[in-house]
Amino acid sequence: MTVYISRTPKSKALYARAKRVLPAGVAYGIRFFEPYPFYTATAMGSKLHDVDGNEYVDFWLGHTALILGHSPTVVVKAVVKQLKNGTQYGTPHELEVQLAEQVARMVPGAEMTRFTNSGTEANMYATRLARAYTKRDKVAKFEGGWHGGYDALHVAVKYPYNVPESAGLTAGATRDTMVLPFNDLTGVTRKLRNECVAAIIIEPVLGGGGGVLAEKEFLRRLRELCDEKGILLIFDEVITGFRLAPGCAEEYFGVRPDLSVFGKILGGGFPVGAFSGRSELMEHLNSLVYKRPEYSFHGGTFAGNPITMTAGLATLGQLKDGRIIRRLNREGMKIREELRGIFGKHGVEAQVVGAGSIFNVHFTKQHVKSAVDVGKADRKMLVDYNLSLIAGGVFWLPTHNAVISSAHSREDISRLFGETERFARKMRHVHAG
Ligand SMILES: Cc1ncc(COP(=O)(O)O)c(C=O)c1O
Repeated sequence: MTVYISRTPKSKALYARAKRVLPAGVAYGIRFFEPYPFYTATAMGSKLHDVDGNEYVDFWLGHTALILGHSPTVVVKAVVKQLKNGTQYGTPHELEVQLAEQVARMVPGAEMTRFTNSGTEANMYATRLARAYTKRDKVAKFEGGWHGGYDALHVAVKYPYNVPESAGLTAGATRDTMVLPFNDLTGVTRKLRNECVAAIIIEPVLGGGGGVLAEKEFLRRLRELCDEKGILLIFDEVITGFRLAPGCAEEYFGVRPDLSVFGKILGGGFPVGAFSGRSELMEHLNSLVYKRPEYSFHGGTFAGNPITMTAGLATLGQLKDGRIIRRLNREGMKIREELRGIFGKHGVEAQVVGAGSIFNVHFTKQHVKSAVDVGKADRKMLVDYNLSLIAGGVFWLPTHNAVISSAHSREDISRLFGETERFARKMRHVHAG
């Protein structure tokens, strides 16, 4: 902490200013960490530079949105060109057609798409569509699942789950939301026994829930259960979309959802969300086909924004053949193995979780299979680990998942190992003492 404070006087001053005009001094609560966050001045490739001139190898990558790193040339060039042709049309245009076509080519279940500006919005509209299509009210989500701040899904996100996630969530808004146990088909079946549910929404890899991977067999059986009970299966792929595989979790797990929700990577560094599915289902958004009350509304001023569509097209253009994603997945596996090795060598009880190019660490001796297990791990030690990395110039948001990008070099990753080694050695010392 003292090293961090001594290196960040300008961030400290900026935080004091920010606190007066931005609650907690930040634009999004989770970006605050003790004693104050550093304020970024510039970002390029795998690095963030703060206002004090410190450099961080960035494994947070804009909330995991930047699979090609910060400001990749291919995206910047395309966006600069598009800036001269208009920044916001408010009319249909070819770029949104091209991006929806590209999504359909990469993700077989995504025959049709609608764009939003955030993952939260996309989940909200996907939930509404599922309710409209099935004519059922209830939706089910998993313990620890994070789908954004939309009221109906803002339930049972942070452990312990019996405390409301936010003030201002009315009983009415959350009354039709059921909570299911992750990776536990028996528990899910029991909970759904006498229920009539429109949709089950799941993150194939828990994001806010700590990077825990859904078991393949669990997802396969969940698909079967949904089919038996006429429930729509929604994959919230805001993190996993275009990261786990070019065809997203659908390809990675071999399980096809009814609806897929995207965000982050799809916008190539610009604000985005999207939801996709088979035409017959998505057509319920078409007011030429379905009239009120069957029609399901979706819309937004910036939906299909041409800058976002351009950046998304440039990004998917890089990802579509799968070479970058396969390389990052191999790197991700090596990182998880190496971190396990480092903690193991120093006798630190840690579980390294994740999938593909996503990783996280939980300090517990128990195998971690759900967000409940994550909630029981030593969170203080995780924050200490993250703060120790930050002081050493390796950044991801404390307690959140880390990811890598194609901009990360061997040296960047070695830096992570070196700083982890330093922390683990210290912990061994503390334990031994
Ligand atoms: C899985 C998942 N769903 C939804 C969201 C919400 O997306 P946004 O922050 O763009 O609203 C997030 C954001 O982190 C997420 O990780």
